[in-house]
Amino acid sequence: MWLASGLIAAFLAAIVFASVSQAIHPPSHLETIDPVTIYDDPEFGDPGVTIREDGSALVVGVAEMFFFEPDPIEVPVGRPVTFRLTSADVIHGFQVVGTNANTMVIPGYVSELTVTFSEPGEKLILCNEYCGLLHHEMMGRLVVKEVAP
Ligand code: CUA
Repeated sequence: MWLASGLIAAFLAAIVFASVSQAIHPPSHLETIDPVTIYDDPEFGDPGVTIREDGSALVVGVAEMFFFEPDPIEVPVGRPVTFRLTSADVIHGFQVVGTNANTMVIPGYVSELTVTFSEPGEKLILCNEYCGLLHHEMMGRLVVKEVAP
């Protein structure tokens, strides 16, 4: 019993330590946004893909019960693709199946990640956080292809 109690105390101490001194927070870089007005936001009000001059891409995306916007997302092959994502309602996931692109999408925050897709093709985007009755229907398409700047 003393051992079990000691373990519980150690786990609680670890949680307190991590939350106080390590500033536990959602993934990405703590950029905040008002989820109520995102469609009035200059950036997230018009989700889409921008191809930069160097051929890399910026994807501004919104997750909402129960879809992703834009859909499909068309990105260039072999170039860095930066996703900036936020949620209009509840916590969603954004996972490009078969790649390491995977983040939580949290209302009130902007999640940012950069991925390079090395092969052309079509990939499935899944929501991997339970977000409501139609969570299992929430998916999108990512099309990786040659894109002219
Ligand atoms: Cu969105 Cu599950």
